[in-house]
Amino acid sequence: MTDRRFSIAPMMEWTDRHCRFFHRLLTRRARLYTEMITTGAVLRGDRARLLGFDPAEHPVAVQLGGSDPRALADAARICADLGYDEINLNVGCPSDRVREGRFGACLMAEPALVGECVAAMKAAVRIPVTVKCRIGIDDQDSEESLDTFTRTVVAAGVDGLVVHARKAWLDGLSPKENRDIPPLDYDRVYRLKRAWPALPVTINGGIASVEQGAAHLAHLDGAMMGRAAYQEPWRLLAVDPLIYGSPAPFTTPKAALEAFFPYVARELAHGTRLHAMTRHILGLFHAVPGARAFRRHIATHAVKPGAGVAVLHDALAQVVDARAELAHIAA
Ligand SMILES: Cc1cc2nc3c(=O)[nH]c(=O)nc-3n(C[C@H](O)[C@H](O)[C@H](O)COP(=O)(O)O)c2cc1C
Repeated sequence: MTDRRFSIAPMMEWTDRHCRFFHRLLTRRARLYTEMITTGAVLRGDRARLLGFDPAEHPVAVQLGGSDPRALADAARICADLGYDEINLNVGCPSDRVREGRFGACLMAEPALVGECVAAMKAAVRIPVTVKCRIGIDDQDSEESLDTFTRTVVAAGVDGLVVHARKAWLDGLSPKENRDIPPLDYDRVYRLKRAWPALPVTINGGIASVEQGAAHLAHLDGAMMGRAAYQEPWRLLAVDPLIYGSPAPFTTPKAALEAFFPYVARELAHGTRLHAMTRHILGLFHAVPGARAFRRHIATHAVKPGAGVAVLHDALAQVVDARAELAHIAA
């Protein structure tokens, strides 16, 4: 059975393949998600650029944005053939652009259509098909509407739900505000799981530490961390020991970063700019003397034309303290 105990959320502009490779060095076990990719991009875009990933990223799920069952089925098939481990449908993004395309969070109001989308994808692929949603939108009653939504996607064969435990307010709030202002309601997600015990349910929203993620597992199948994982990636070194009872891949953030160097060198040789990779690592050192100098060195030098791995070596040399060792994490 698919292990969904800990995952890192899909985040546009953030969880690209370089970011995911880096996260994979910090946890061998967490499930990773791509940025949302629209069906139009999958079907007509530059697939190698949009969908390419490194085999080391497994288990990795692709998140699709769309609401046309046939296009979603075709896109799902392409992604499954490329080797993704799961197809996830975005029913949580509140941006106007997405809403105009009639997908994302506004689909919470169209459960029957989401059911058709899930059924079409399920018929097209053998890998799990999941949905990431909110507890409701606007003035929906989040008890009733989330139950109706769930009943419909379960009937369509969905293999799991990821629930961002707050509503999205489609009028008046920006996407960023919609990640903070509508209140979190974890109990609503726990009730959902109790009502659908056979359905794998993952909770998302406001999980600030791996310990907090672990606490949700008393009630649910999975915890998904978004911003905290990206902004403070050092936290991910705790995932394998705390969630899975297996050793962390590295005992220090420093060692994990050194393991990133060969990947960076290889990508540079293929024409990737250094900054495209290093922008994801800025939060790696926390409360360690030299962390600020590390960030500043990268911010200043990684953007320069021709910048190479030496920038990373020099940045790392700014991190002076061996306390970068996180003893409790290495247990
Ligand atoms: C920069 C950014 C981009 C995001 N892009 C997506 C996306 O493409 N698809 C999606 O389902 N959610 C997206 N989200 C929402 C996150 O997946 C997650 O639901 C949200 O940040 C709440 O979790 P957190 O409190 O752990 O960050 C994005 C969030 C951020 C901060």
